Amino acid sequence: MKSVQGFFLVLLAMFSFAAQALMTANNDLDDIESLQRGAQYYSQYCLACHSMEYQRYRTVAQDLHISKQAMRASIIVDSQVHWSEPMQSVLAKDNMEAWLGVAAPDLTLAADQYSVDWLYTFLHQFYRDEQRPLGVNNLLAPNIMMPNVLEGLQGSQSFSRESDGVMALMPTNKGMLSQAEYDQLVRDLVNYLAYTTEPKQQVRSELGLWVIGFLSVFTILSLLLKKEYWRDVH
Ligand code: HEC
Repeated sequence: MKSVQGFFLVLLAMFSFAAQALMTANNDLDDIESLQRGAQYYSQYCLACHSMEYQRYRTVAQDLHISKQAMRASIIVDSQVHWSEPMQSVLAKDNMEAWLGVAAPDLTLAADQYSVDWLYTFLHQFYRDEQRPLGVNNLLAPNIMMPNVLEGLQGSQSFSRESDGVMALMPTNKGMLSQAEYDQLVRDLVNYLAYTTEPKQQVRSELGLWVIGFLSVFTILSLLLKKEYWRDVH
């Protein structure tokens, strides 16, 4: 009995540690302006390497109410690309593999794969590490082969192990944005990633209501019909 209790205590401790280790994104899928900014940041900072194969420029424009001009001005980075096309990465996968040893994964479904809080935390926890080929590492994704593309905005950080064994990141150089501005930029980015994971959520729940309505009417009709048939039998 004791050992069972002990086991659950350990489990509980592990869960609470895991929960504490993640920051909270506090993103809002109803905040259309945040989603619009997120789409723009994604094109600016991520699309060079990470495709969004299951998302088309036109769908993004329609869902997020972005005009064709605005799409051309700040989201469709390649002027050759037609806006009905899926969002391909700018760099070819083979080039990236030759350069970094790995290809960057498609991020259309990233929010489902990693959770929004994970992504938010991940984009806060890059730090300088001279042992690594790219000179950077990440607390949440150790030894990742992704350059710290937002360092200029966030500023650089270094890793230190405190005397009590706690791992901490210390800012070493200031970036272009304040802490609050950087948090907002990352919130917008992960908000956009949450949207691309489930772009038709709104439509689907409305459709669901229609389906339920139809089934209810259909059920009542068939009950009435059944009554009608059995009346003659009895
Ligand atoms: C210069 C190319 C490049 C850019 C730009 C880039 N990434 Fe990456 N990213 C990579 C590569 C390569 C990997 C795979 C690294 C690995 O597996 O070690 C990766 C991995 C990831 C992962 C998966 C992490 C994991 O542990 O599996 C996420 C999430 C991610 N990137 C998000 C982003 C976001 C968000 C942006 C834009 C702010 C971005 N990346 C910009 C190259 C890039």
